[in-house]
Amino acid sequence: MLTWDDQSAHPVNPAARASSDGEANTRAKMDADTAATSAASHRVNASDKRIINGQTDVNQLVPFKYKWAWEKYLATCANHWMPQEINMSRDIALWKNPNGLTEDERRIVKRNLGFFVTADSLAANNIVLGTYRHITAPECRQFLLRQAFEEAIHTHAYQYIVESLDLDEAEIFNAYNEVPSIRAKDEFLIPFIDAIADPHFKTGTPVADQTLLKSLIVFACLMEGLFFYVGFTQILALGRQNKMTGAAEQYMYILRDESMHCNFGIDLINTVKLENPHLWTPEFREEIRELFRKAVELEYAYAEDTMPRGVLGMNASMFKSYLRFIANRRCQQIGIEALYPQEENPFPWMAEMIDLKKERNFFETRVIEYQTGGALSWD
Ligand SMILES: [Fe+2]
Ligand SMILES: [Fe+2]
Repeated sequence: MLTWDDQSAHPVNPAARASSDGEANTRAKMDADTAATSAASHRVNASDKRIINGQTDVNQLVPFKYKWAWEKYLATCANHWMPQEINMSRDIALWKNPNGLTEDERRIVKRNLGFFVTADSLAANNIVLGTYRHITAPECRQFLLRQAFEEAIHTHAYQYIVESLDLDEAEIFNAYNEVPSIRAKDEFLIPFIDAIADPHFKTGTPVADQTLLKSLIVFACLMEGLFFYVGFTQILALGRQNKMTGAAEQYMYILRDESMHCNFGIDLINTVKLENPHLWTPEFREEIRELFRKAVELEYAYAEDTMPRGVLGMNASMFKSYLRFIANRRCQQIGIEALYPQEENPFPWMAEMIDLKKERNFFETRVIEYQTGGALSWD
């Protein structure tokens, strides 16, 4: 086995040549024993692996310790899809028809794309420039590599919708600078990316490890697990009314991917907690609860901005309940007390698509349908 400091690879000492054959053989055997011991010390014991601050070789995927991460990696690969596989011709015809959609429906589509065309770039940057460097479990790194590619596919999908509908690219791609309700969400997120993407940032102290854990929670629970939900619900509501069905199908695939990202992130967070219980202090938990409250406020402001009036059988205030319902669920998933008492889900049909309770069934159904090329239905 090769190791970087394999002693048998060192040049032979010329003095050894002057020794008798017997001495040389003994020395060679001792060198080989030393090399074998040194190489064995590089072999990975699964029990030594850690999600953060691990000391084992990150290049050795096996032996597995975090089987759940590997299984999620396999599941995401089985769900592979590409945006251009989806037919957008009905959407194009509807968008071009002056009577095809109401102004409020058009606003929803444009605001949606305005948020999402850059959101998934932020998510990809967060993984590639931040999270990946600090995670020391290769099974989890493998999932993160796949996740980063899926974020690229999502950005591609949103760009493909913008291009298909011939929307003003500059307007849509600059919405995160120009539309205050979108800007506010991104301004909330960006400090958590910057903190862990800073080249000087290193884990290994309680404060730094809490910074990383906070960033994992913000991304999995609040970005992928909350900030996407007003947008997803709106576009899927259009699809249910047989409008913008190509875009809705793209969102359906993205929603499936994001549910997996969110679930992976939650498993990651819970394992970091388990391995580092000292990080989970009452002060830290209170800080997290405050971030949840702020995120619900920001997403609700976005709902109000995108729906100044009732549209598609929905209105902004229904989203107040929905966002609180989701936030409660995310809190429970990471072991924090629910923030809002007894919130009901006003969109039970979303629960069937995602779902917060039936995620497994949803994935199993979709995997089969995708692999056999079946179309999505909106019933
Ligand atoms: Fe994404
Ligand atoms: Fe994601």
